[in-house]
Amino acid sequence: MNPTVDLLCAHRSVRAFTADPVPTEHLHAAIRAGQMASTSSGVQACSVIEITDPGARAEIAELAGNQRYVQTAPLFLLFCGDSRRHRLAARAGGGVYDTRLEAFLVAAIDTALFAQNTAVAFESMGYGICFIGGLRNDLPRLDRLLGLPEGVYPFFGMCVGRPDPAKPTATRPRLPIEAVLMRDRYADDGAVLGAMREYDETYREYLRGRGAPSAQIDASWVARMAELHGAVRRAGLGSYYTGKGARID
Ligand SMILES: Cc1cc2nc3c(=O)[nH]c(=O)nc-3n(C[C@H](O)[C@H](O)[C@H](O)COP(=O)(O)O)c2cc1C
Repeated sequence: MNPTVDLLCAHRSVRAFTADPVPTEHLHAAIRAGQMASTSSGVQACSVIEITDPGARAEIAELAGNQRYVQTAPLFLLFCGDSRRHRLAARAGGGVYDTRLEAFLVAAIDTALFAQNTAVAFESMGYGICFIGGLRNDLPRLDRLLGLPEGVYPFFGMCVGRPDPAKPTATRPRLPIEAVLMRDRYADDGAVLGAMREYDETYREYLRGRGAPSAQIDASWVARMAELHGAVRRAGLGSYYTGKGARID
């Protein structure tokens, strides 16, 4: 199509890296690209914390479910929704910070857009990235570790480094376009289910190619989604974020 679309469509998460460091100029270029993402009303509700301390890395790797690459990646970034600056602005003007769910959603959306721009910028420079939502397993522990102030909401991390050529990864197929692109109305359940079943076949092929265990191949995507959403995960998030000053009502 064109080099930008080709780059986007070649994305795959990378979890094995060479030891090559990420030079500061590359980090800054990627963060500048992140900052240039669209941001609701220009609020720029995202901050990024580079975690360099090996002890902190090891603890985050552990609390994220023993994800080794959090420790071994040359660069690890923590993406936070940031209402701190807005609170300081309100206070500096003698006002109050009084928001509801909208401000928290804006912070989450801004942070996702910022992070995706950052990811694409890194990929355009030949790096591989992997988002790390696993750190939401234990946000109170992450918070104690980093001493995050009120109004800063850790959402996810990102590992960055040069992909290890000895451990290449394939792109993971996505749903067929009919399942996600609709016209004028949301599709009826039959059409949605049909597209999901079609995807199951594609996904099975992908799993086979990866040499996944046969139980995983048999279950495929529909069963995995049912399993993933059939039990409460990370139940304390609401109370953690409200404890950091977010209103989610
Ligand atoms: C917000 C977010 C959090 C994620 N958290 C993790 C994680 O904790 N560990 C991990 O290995 N991959 C994580 N991933 C990567 C996804 O598993 C991956 O993007 C998905 O399986 C699709 O594969 P692909 O990125 O290779 O196309 C996360 C992705 C996103 C967007």
